[in-house]
Order: sequence, then C-alpha cells, then structure tokens
Amino acid sequence: GHERAEFLTSLFRSIKGFPKEGINFRDFMPVLENAEGLQIMLEGLEKALPIPADEFDSVAGLEARGFLFGPALAARLGKGFIAVRKAGKLPPEVIGEDYTLEYGTARVEVEADAVSRGERVLIVDDLIATGGTAKAAADLIRKCGGTVAGFSFVMQLEGLSGIEELGDYPTSTLVSMP
Ligand code: PRP
Ligand code: HPA
Repeated sequence: GHERAEFLTSLFRSIKGFPKEGINFRDFMPVLENAEGLQIMLEGLEKALPIPADEFDSVAGLEARGFLFGPALAARLGKGFIAVRKAGKLPPEVIGEDYTLEYGTARVEVEADAVSRGERVLIVDDLIATGGTAKAAADLIRKCGGTVAGFSFVMQLEGLSGIEELGDYPTSTLVSMP
C-alpha cells in the first residue's frame, strides 16, 4: 500500500542537470539494486495492472530500462515479452516509428513479425515523462497489427501531460514525482 509506494519513491535517485541543463533526472536503477525494492516493484506492477491479466496476450518493454523488468513481469504473468528497441540494433526486417524525447529525437523498432495480428499488448516502461516514447511504442504496436491493451509505468513525472498524450487507454503508475 502507501508505505510500499513511499519506499519505492525513496529508492529513486535524482540527478539535477542530467543529461541536459533543466532536466531533473529520476533514476530507477537503485530500485533494481535493492532486493526488497525489486520485489515490491514487481508485485506492485502485478497488483496494479491496468486491466486483468486475461485481457492481454503479451508485454512489450522499451529499451533500455523497460528491458530490465519487462521480461520479469511478463514471466510472473505467464506472458511473452516483445522488445521495442532503439533504431539500428535489429537486423531486417524491422518496423519502426520516430518520436520526440524530452531531450532529443529517436526511433524505435521491432522485428517485423514480433507482433501477431490482433495480439493484445501491455506496454511497460520505467518512467513516463512527456509520453513521447510510450506513444511511439503504441503507434508501433498498432502499425504491426497489434492492439494496445494498456500501459504500466513505475514512475510518472508530474507537471508533464505524459499520460494524457497516450489517449484513452487503461494506464497504471506505481509512484509519481515532480
Ligand atoms: C527514458 C525512459 C522512458 C522515456 C520517457 O528512456 O526510460 O523510456 O525516457 O520519456 P518520455 O515520456 O518523455 O518519452 P531513455 O530514452 O532515456 O532511454 P534509456 O531507457 O535507454 O536510458
Ligand atoms: N528519468 C529517466 N528518464 C527520463 C527522465 C527522467 O527524469 N525524463 C525523461 N526520461
């Protein structure tokens, strides 16, 4: 409950001015490094699923930090994991989508046959800021013929309209910080 959320929040590290001036970077790596933190995060994500587990088929996670817990969450739920990668890492054939980041532009890609037609996909990431990355992942899943079932984030940055940018999807976040 409340105490667990506070504990998770306390494990996040904040770095002012990284990777650019004006950004207060929230780092979730210490959550992973803490045995209890890692358990609480995975249990929390499972308990707070935005839709019942039988209403989606697979979990998609975003490189790099979405790769650090997405497969663990998928395994707990008995689902497979789809790796949404940064451009240029995968051999052809790939399907890609460009997007704007809080501090730059980028492109995400998946293997062309990673998503089946009509596959219902839960998208997960460590953090939502502007929502650009998660939205690109959603557009990419749809481009591949899949259906976006919802989104799960560990951390939501307040004061940015990230979740609103995603449209009308079931979404859960464990903790939120300015
Ligand atoms: C961070 C974070 C999210 C994204 C959130 O990843 O892990 O994926 O930015 O920002 P947004 O909501 O404004 O799009 P980053 O691109 O820094 O890559 P990394 O996980 O590889 O470090
Ligand atoms: N932390 C981690 N990733 C991010 C952040 C942040 O504060 N802002 C945009 N992407």
